[in-house]
Amino acid sequence: MKVFIVGMAGGVGRRVARMLAERREEATGLVRRQEQVDALAGQGVSARLGDMLAMSVEELAEAMRGADVFVFTAGAGGGGLEATTAIDGDGPGKLAQAAALAGIRRFLLVSVFPEAWRERHMNEDFEHYIQEKKRAEIALVATDLDWVILRPSALSDDPGTGRVDLGLAKVHREITRDDVAATVVELLHAPEISRTILEVTGGAVPIEEAVSAMKPRVS
Ligand SMILES: NC(=O)c1ccc[n+]([C@@H]2O[C@H](COP(=O)([O-])OP(=O)(O)OC[C@H]3O[C@@H](n4cnc5c(N)ncnc54)[C@H](OP(=O)(O)O)[C@@H]3O)[C@@H](O)[C@H]2O)c1
Repeated sequence: MKVFIVGMAGGVGRRVARMLAERREEATGLVRRQEQVDALAGQGVSARLGDMLAMSVEELAEAMRGADVFVFTAGAGGGGLEATTAIDGDGPGKLAQAAALAGIRRFLLVSVFPEAWRERHMNEDFEHYIQEKKRAEIALVATDLDWVILRPSALSDDPGTGRVDLGLAKVHREITRDDVAATVVELLHAPEISRTILEVTGGAVPIEEAVSAMKPRVS
């Protein structure tokens, strides 16, 4: 399987790329700095330089052509309202257009729980981020792509547990980036799971089993 990732140098993105490389599958994608290309090469992953904001839909389609699956795990990461609108809000829709143009049907979007940290009365930037992530989900579900939206709860860099709580609706808690990445990789290998929104948080079910339980039941 050949996977094209935008957000490939990020916390979740580089883990997805590394896990795919460990399974001897091909991961490639966009990064914005040469040192990130070099660091990923050290993990056996080949990345290419590119900025999804500077590139046109046609250029993005050209970059990803030949891939079987697309993964969006980029984010403005608190870079301000404008960057959040462009990357988290407009980004997935733009990349869905590019994927369609490149003939890539399967599109996995890493999103967020819409109710994340509502109880904390976060600042305007965070509220904007939550709204833009939802706007991106709306754009993706309106396409006829074979999409999957994965909403992880708050991310940590603790070591992965290999276990999660995955389903259509979950309580927002915390999950490691390792476990989110492993869930993404498992979902990429479960093509029966399509056109659905899943929520994932730390839990007790082995990831392979948790993903398998989401496959449609044949009666
Ligand atoms: N943080 C949380 O608690 C949390 C919770 C739920 C969901 N999420 C979502 O989970 C996903 C992964 O989070 P993360 O913490 O792994 O993200 P991250 O470490 O902040 O990585 C995001 C990556 O996106 C890249 N990026 C930003 N703008 C780009 C552009 N214009 N072109 C190409 N790449 C660009 C960044 O590149 P640079 O390295 O060049 O900056 C970075 O490597 C994000 O979509 C985030 O919204 C986060």
